[in-house]
Amino acid sequence: LSAWVNSWMYDFDELVVSNNDVVFRNIAEDLRNRLPIEAMFTSEHQAVQKIHQHPLPMIHVDAFLYDDDVVDSLCEEGKMSRSYCTQCGSYKTASLEFISHSFSLMELKFLYQHVLPDLTGKVVVDVGSRLGAVLFAGYLYSSASLLYGVEMNADFCQLQEMMITFLTTMCKVVHADICTQPSLLQKADVVVMNNVFEYFLDRREQARAWEFIACNVRKRGSLLVTVPSLEESLSKLQVNVQLSQWVEEVQLNYDVYMEKDVDREALEQIHLYKIL
Ligand SMILES: C[S@@+](CC[C@H](N)C(=O)[O-])C[C@H]1O[C@@H](n2cnc3c(N)ncnc32)[C@H](O)[C@@H]1O
Repeated sequence: LSAWVNSWMYDFDELVVSNNDVVFRNIAEDLRNRLPIEAMFTSEHQAVQKIHQHPLPMIHVDAFLYDDDVVDSLCEEGKMSRSYCTQCGSYKTASLEFISHSFSLMELKFLYQHVLPDLTGKVVVDVGSRLGAVLFAGYLYSSASLLYGVEMNADFCQLQEMMITFLTTMCKVVHADICTQPSLLQKADVVVMNNVFEYFLDRREQARAWEFIACNVRKRGSLLVTVPSLEESLSKLQVNVQLSQWVEEVQLNYDVYMEKDVDREALEQIHLYKIL
């Protein structure tokens, strides 16, 4: 009997997880319909400019809104392309570089189900919450008691607010520059930072923001999740942050998914640190 109950419980868990996937995908679909295909607002001049200045053609395809299947069907309809013509009229084409300003569902499930511990009673802060993907996934796939998103762009705050009103009171959106929110960072048990500053601030502002983060994410034993690694983000800037005195990296197992279509390279960009 116990084997039967166990297997039934396992099936039940699977069912709950896939129900959450459906809710998550519905949120993405709803947001897709409210945004232009490039999922960027003209209010984010700096980010738009940085994408245009990139040496090779690059487009923003938001991985939360557009998973591979959606991208495939848009390509079939001719609404999106994975390649560009290097010499107009010829068959010479090259792959377009895609950049995403959000985590994909796969990355978010990896984050909440394999990277972070049980979050019962814990406070999560997503720095630069944009569309709210980290908040929605935290609500669906973790037991965190409060999930805060801090976003400096007013248009994205409005979108997140609208979705959250329908969904839950466990998620809160703060429209602010993170550098004005020391107490929120100080009380967080988990701080998530997915490519927050690089595309959105100039180098001087990035350095200042990282110094602020290092001064205020200080709760001993709390966790910091970054993409890319702290070493990589800070190496490009002139910052006064002593990593070895601030954090200790926790090694992650990136082999938890055996399926072939899992983007291991994307998972390997996710880094976890414990605050000393
Ligand atoms: C790459 S997106 C991350 C989206 C989301 N956290 C995720 O992982 O799906 C970074 C976001 O950070 C915001 N941002 C950049 N600098 C910020 C700052 N100093 N304070 C608050 N938000 C900031 C940008 O407007 C952008 O929407």
